[in-house]
Amino acid sequence: MKILMVCLGNICRSPLAEGIMQHLSDGEGLGWEIDSAGTGDWHVGEGPDRRSTRTARNHGIDISSQVCRLFRQSDFDEFDHIFVMDKYNLNDILNMASNHEHAQKVKLLLGDKIVPDPYHDDTQFEPVFTLIEGGCKDLIRELTSR
Ligand code: 4NP
Repeated sequence: MKILMVCLGNICRSPLAEGIMQHLSDGEGLGWEIDSAGTGDWHVGEGPDRRSTRTARNHGIDISSQVCRLFRQSDFDEFDHIFVMDKYNLNDILNMASNHEHAQKVKLLLGDKIVPDPYHDDTQFEPVFTLIEGGCKDLIRELTSR
């Protein structure tokens, strides 16, 4: 199973989602491959935001070697599922889908809720971690019970 996590900058939320999902799926021995990407190109080539790296480290997860990249058209073929953090990401990625098969791979990570952008608020990284972790645990249950 290959899963792509997507947010706007690919430095705050989706790196956390990649790290958490990889950590949880490795712990379950699922052999899943997780990656992340952004819809905006401001931080391409950079590592994750230090606040995300620190928050992940506090939970025993190392995301420091991740490198920011843009979402690309070939991701629709490469990944089985594409999970986005909010409705802007959802619209942006769905607008790039060229067929139904691609579009149906794209879903909000939290089902009908969004993961809010913590970029401008240092206090939101820990709550965002908790939201993403809950979403990843739910997804593992859902995707492994099929
Ligand atoms: P992210 O947060 O989408 O969770 O990575 C953001 C990071 C950077 C910017 C926006 C959102 N930015 O505008 O640079």
